Amino acid sequence: MYLFISPGHLPLRSKQIFRSKSVNHTRPHRRLLITSAHRPAWPFVQALRTQLVYSANGRLMRPSATTVNLAERTASHLKRCLYGVYLVTGASGRTGRRVVSGLLAQQKRVRALTRDRERLAEALKDVSVDMVEQEEKGRLDVFVSDLFDISPELFTDVVRIASCTGTSTRPSTSTANSNSQGGSQSVPFTMENKPENVEYVGVKNLVNNAAKQLSGIDERNTIAVLEFTDPSTVSAQWKPVNDVVMGGVSQSIVRAESGGLIFSGNVSTENNGGFASARMLDLDKPMDLGGYDGLILRVKGDGHNYKMIVRCEPKSDGLCHCFTFKTRQGEWTDITMPFKEFNSVRRAKTVDDAPRLNPKHILAFQVMLSKFEYDGELNPTFSPGSFELSIDSINAYVEEPNPGCPRIVHMGSAATTRTLRKDEFEVQIPIVQLSDKIGRILDWKLAGEDAVRVSGIPYCILRATGLNDESEPVGIDNLFFDQGDFLIGNVTRDDMAALIVKAFSSPALTNVTTEVCARADDQELKSLEEQLSDLKLDESEKRKFAPFPYIPTRTSVPQ
Ligand SMILES: NC(=O)c1ccc[n+]([C@@H]2O[C@H](COP(=O)([O-])OP(=O)(O)OC[C@H]3O[C@@H](n4cnc5c(N)ncnc54)[C@H](OP(=O)(O)O)[C@@H]3O)[C@@H](O)[C@H]2O)c1
Repeated sequence: MYLFISPGHLPLRSKQIFRSKSVNHTRPHRRLLITSAHRPAWPFVQALRTQLVYSANGRLMRPSATTVNLAERTASHLKRCLYGVYLVTGASGRTGRRVVSGLLAQQKRVRALTRDRERLAEALKDVSVDMVEQEEKGRLDVFVSDLFDISPELFTDVVRIASCTGTSTRPSTSTANSNSQGGSQSVPFTMENKPENVEYVGVKNLVNNAAKQLSGIDERNTIAVLEFTDPSTVSAQWKPVNDVVMGGVSQSIVRAESGGLIFSGNVSTENNGGFASARMLDLDKPMDLGGYDGLILRVKGDGHNYKMIVRCEPKSDGLCHCFTFKTRQGEWTDITMPFKEFNSVRRAKTVDDAPRLNPKHILAFQVMLSKFEYDGELNPTFSPGSFELSIDSINAYVEEPNPGCPRIVHMGSAATTRTLRKDEFEVQIPIVQLSDKIGRILDWKLAGEDAVRVSGIPYCILRATGLNDESEPVGIDNLFFDQGDFLIGNVTRDDMAALIVKAFSSPALTNVTTEVCARADDQELKSLEEQLSDLKLDESEKRKFAPFPYIPTRTSVPQ
């Protein structure tokens, strides 16, 4: 039988003694007994008990059913939260459908909100997306609901939102409206719903619900790898493994308490010992954490440096992967351990050309307090005596794909503030003249924008100028950005959709409101990145004109 702690964790002298005794390496249990014969006060019974947790092939005993189930649950949960879902509202709309297509092209998982599944299927065909095929692939799911009647399920696993709804209209004359900044002063369409409901109540309902659901976004990117709620499961899964297996006299216990794991004891350097550890029994079925970037341990320690050890090989003293972490006396700390920063170690010696930690194939975890670091280096914080490490949780985490970027991108309209600023303009553009006749649409759009701005969710509001799909798309590098709501122009829905998709990975657009139009033929443009980095935050005092003195002190809700 094998002992599972490597001799490499021992002080050098112990290893020398083993060698000098010409140990038969095919019979390590004999090695243990022979070596121990020299050791006074060696806790033989404890060593034997440790030995007995092994099976004949050198692996730890079978895990409990709970652990296996946990590994399976981890794998299935992983599928759901790996990429996160991008919710697109107004997905059947002429811009929304293009946003769906753009996100799918970036391999995102998309949830499309619509009030009518058939209408959505038709709309997606228009942008060469086969709705059913994408649903079957698990890339797209369709959520049928009205914006002002949404349920929390809409936000399951949602990490980002593209808000592309707008008051739906239908032609009231033979001339259909396609450009709300142009056209005649008569109203060439009738509205299916009041702008107040869609532009304000609906948007506010969306962001208020999203604020509750998306607030846990970072937590959703982590998953509990192990649970310590049941003391009997914990004592069946975790075993103390101390230097007694090599002749030392260190003692430790591992137990569950208040939902956490407590590893405590007394570590001694007598008999050339110097380590204590708590090791989990090998899982029968490896845990697959392949979609995660690392582990986060919440720990309270005693000022010592400990090692977190991950085992991917079913050998008692095989290659292991170690991460040293510091603890602070009596303080809870979250320790982030990226998988790529674990050292591959065999018998406390780093093995440079060894395989790296394979998060898809994790068999066991172990925590250790040792006098030694790696390659004979001493643990600088080590002192013999009592120790205690509390582990509240072991979670796996996924790096946030775009930290510091907008989580909601709202498609707004240029001119939304102009009905409030009529005196500033000699000539009113048609949509401003029409706004009162069409349910004060601009005022409600502004109120909807304000709901986004005060939601607490990192946002970006892209105010399109006249949407005109008769022109060719110019590409987002040829878009012109301006702030202050003076801009007049046109932009295609293709370009707007591409910009919305781009905004999700643009930190410079976070908490920014900007108007957008296509570059005029003779217009000199800075690069897109330069233009974006020139944009002012909505709260910025430096802004040349603040169209939102309403935030947060004044509400722009029309009276
Ligand atoms: N026309 C312009 O020149 C212009 C200029 C600047 C900005 N904008 C604004 O840009 C945005 C996008 O314009 P667009 O032309 O792409 O939009 P669109 O084609 O008119 O589509 C609007 C979408 O909103 C959805 N919708 C409407 N009421 C809803 C409700 N109560 N609940 C859920 N969904 C609802 C509709 O989806 P379902 O019917 O499938 O549910 C529809 O897909 C709009 O806000 C628009 O006002 C327009």
